[in-house]
Amino acid sequence: MSYPKRKLIMVPGPTNISDRVMGAMLKPVINHRGEAFSALLKDVTEKGKYLFQTSHDVVILSSSGTGGVEAAVWNIIKPGDAAVVPVFGEFSERLAEMVEIAGGRAIRVRSEPGSVPSLEAVKKEIEASKALKAVFVVHNETSTGCTVPYLEEVTRAAKKRSAFMIIDAISSLGGYAIPVDRWGVDICITGSQKCLAAPPGLALLSLSNEAVEYVKKYQSPSRYFDLRRQLDYLARGETPFTPAIPLYYALDEALTMLQEERLEKRVERHTRLASRFYQALTGFGLELFAKEEFRSNTVIAALYPKATDDKEFRRSMSDEQDVVIAGGFGNLKGKVFRVGCMGEVNDGYVNRTLSALAVTLHKFGHGVDLQSVLN
Ligand SMILES: Cc1ncc(COP(=O)(O)O)c(C=O)c1O
Repeated sequence: MSYPKRKLIMVPGPTNISDRVMGAMLKPVINHRGEAFSALLKDVTEKGKYLFQTSHDVVILSSSGTGGVEAAVWNIIKPGDAAVVPVFGEFSERLAEMVEIAGGRAIRVRSEPGSVPSLEAVKKEIEASKALKAVFVVHNETSTGCTVPYLEEVTRAAKKRSAFMIIDAISSLGGYAIPVDRWGVDICITGSQKCLAAPPGLALLSLSNEAVEYVKKYQSPSRYFDLRRQLDYLARGETPFTPAIPLYYALDEALTMLQEERLEKRVERHTRLASRFYQALTGFGLELFAKEEFRSNTVIAALYPKATDDKEFRRSMSDEQDVVIAGGFGNLKGKVFRVGCMGEVNDGYVNRTLSALAVTLHKFGHGVDLQSVLN
């Protein structure tokens, strides 16, 4: 098989990856039961603590982000437990379904398209729900480009009910800061392939002391995602199962780059570049899917001009402009395109993406002032 041509990958994960991070994977494969791997594991989990702003445990799973979410669900939810889940897109609906598959009762709080459920509506369910075990929130709905702006407040409401606060920050952490210790978040999950600009294949979870105590007491029905087992092995510098060693090298390098840049600077960069996208797309005459107050700094979703063929549009972007963007999910399929503003995204990537969009919109009959694109 020949290698595919290198293009600018502007989908909402996986993202473009630096040669420095890719190159880290060329280090030798080592015995995962030996000292060198223990040192690598210690290094990468310490750097993970910086990402989550925690002094507690960080578990890294050799799985995509969904494995991290499953681990949180299968270690916390027991049959009959209730969990409040704001549902405002595909990933939050999946999360509610996972709670149900684990035997829990998902109390969904829904919202209008392009927005997130109101804090008041979520708090109302948190206060009223019987046998409330947890609140599960997708921070950034990658399917709609909407972000929950009230994580800290909802965490406070969950803790008041002594419920676990669990956040899926797979497409946001790094582009946003979530200080889990300061806010009291029990489990926060992210993936390697989004704002961290590492290859896909690793999930990272922060765990509060309360979450650790709980998972150590109650046996999870999952073997691979048993967090008690993960924590026991972590304490002796190992993982229970064979880790994806090259991905650990890559993540270690990507987290070193995060420390070099500093988290607050990375958040600033994501915020500034996302606003460039929003401003330019509005200037193109496009309608943005998310209402202004919920617009994501990491996933930009815009409605196509009427009668634009989604597949043809994205094919043209990819084949003729070498810029890859994503389409919509579920009932947004064919109606929106989504651009990832993540990881190593910079002004050059934004310029190239906007130029490609402008040229392609023009080709599809939607006039765009190219001069307005570049700054
Ligand atoms: C918010 C959110 N949750 C969960 C997932 C699933 O992650 P993965 O595809 O890495 O399993 C994604 C992937 O895009 C996501 O954006």
